[in-house]
Amino acid sequence: MFTTELATVSYIGATILFILSLGGLSNQETALRGNLYGMIGMALAVLATVFGPQVTWAGIPWIIVAMLIGGSIGLYAARTVQMTQMPELVALMHSMVGLAAMLVGISTFIDPEASKGFLGAAKSIHEMEIYIGILIGAVTFSGSIVAFGKLSGRIGGNPLLLPGRHWLNLVGLLVVIYFGREFMNAHTIQDGIMPLAVMTVIALLFGIHMVMAIGGADMPVVVSMLNSYSGWAAAATGFMLSNDLLIVTGALVGSSGAILSYIMCKAMARSFISVIAGGFGTASAAPAPAGGAAQPAGEVTPISATETAELLREAKSVIIVPGYGMAVAQAQHTVYEITKFLREKGVNIRFGIHPVAGRMPGHMNVLLAEAKVPYDIVFEMDELNDDFPKTDVVMVIGANDIVNPGAQDDPSSPIAGMPVLEVWKAKTSIVMKRSMASGYAGVDNPLFYKENNRMLFGDAKKMLDEVLVVLKS
Ligand code: TAP
Repeated sequence: MFTTELATVSYIGATILFILSLGGLSNQETALRGNLYGMIGMALAVLATVFGPQVTWAGIPWIIVAMLIGGSIGLYAARTVQMTQMPELVALMHSMVGLAAMLVGISTFIDPEASKGFLGAAKSIHEMEIYIGILIGAVTFSGSIVAFGKLSGRIGGNPLLLPGRHWLNLVGLLVVIYFGREFMNAHTIQDGIMPLAVMTVIALLFGIHMVMAIGGADMPVVVSMLNSYSGWAAAATGFMLSNDLLIVTGALVGSSGAILSYIMCKAMARSFISVIAGGFGTASAAPAPAGGAAQPAGEVTPISATETAELLREAKSVIIVPGYGMAVAQAQHTVYEITKFLREKGVNIRFGIHPVAGRMPGHMNVLLAEAKVPYDIVFEMDELNDDFPKTDVVMVIGANDIVNPGAQDDPSSPIAGMPVLEVWKAKTSIVMKRSMASGYAGVDNPLFYKENNRMLFGDAKKMLDEVLVVLKS
């Protein structure tokens, strides 16, 4: 149905739509349009590929059956997954991209038809594409499976630090290079199988080792890094299949994932290279299990919902800092009601969002957008950090690590150096959480014991409902 020319034009159209989609997703106001561009681009790409010149009619029923099975699983997963389980679902999806790259590589290599017509330098390049494609695919596959296991609690969050692990990685790399040479020198498919199999096993082990060595607190960076790897795996598949669109799309995902990883590393004060090499900051600072009770380090001053409402009523400027607990409590709608009420009373109320608040990039922005909080009062950490000294009340709703002053004051803290929202500089800060338990990084929070800090204990939704009732009374 699609001639070669029409398929090429469709691919160019889809590429442009994907770029527009990424551009749209960078801003909340244009995110919906960005998603639409992405959906149209993907539909066009799939149609141009399935009905394009590279697929025979005999293959179409197989593709349709595969799409129905895959689509149903995807639809079911998307409808049932909890927002807080999103990172593990994403990790699982990355593993699928890695597996696909591996399988495409292996089938391209063992199918004599697929390599027909490649001679001399073109043959070497084709073989190198296969080798590298399977390598990236295997690392992505096994790494993502382990990431899924860790994020879903099936595998413990503590880093596994094998003795001499960097040497092990280096030896693995040298063996992969050696067998790469053997693979390129092989004259028959049978001769090439053994080096390919050895490399695949090493790549799978490397993926497992890389993610097992990473502590729980660094998992967000690893997930976005695996996102980047999955893009490069898709690009490698594109090279193997001589599919330009897959190359471009893979490169877009690969580079945007790498940029996101870099931003997150900066937000968590991690060195990108150390996170990739594994085991960063683990010797002195293995993260305690999330939610574990930290040692109390002083007296805290509790506050009631009524007193909180009174403080808010008197305030001229308020900043709300949401965190993972707001997502757990699903308190965003009440937060919006309170925001609306205070804005109508002329209070300058704004939101401060930390880049790694919650459990996935943009987690808080998604929740606030869902509750219809206006975008123009939602600010990034850097845009707002200087304003805390001029703020009357800061409400920290289910956030902990991202407002921990220890990140600045305590060099021995596992989160030392991580940029945080400086909420303690406000006239009064109110932390809403259920107990004195620590957050994701498992560290105590000196904010709780500051003189100008108050603790509003309880489920965030329940407490905010009470605050709203008092405000309106
Ligand atoms: P956390 O430091 O994890 O703190 C969340 C707090 O919410 C907990 O201390 C918990 O205390 C409280 N909470 C839980 N359920 C609640 C409820 N129903 N009502 C009220 N409070 C509740 O969260 P954060 O400050 O958003 O920081 C994020 C952390 O997660 C960072 O360490 C970050 O590195 C990590 N991380 C981020 C990502 C991304 S990409 N955003 C992904 C994975 C991990 P109680 O139990 O006492 O209520």
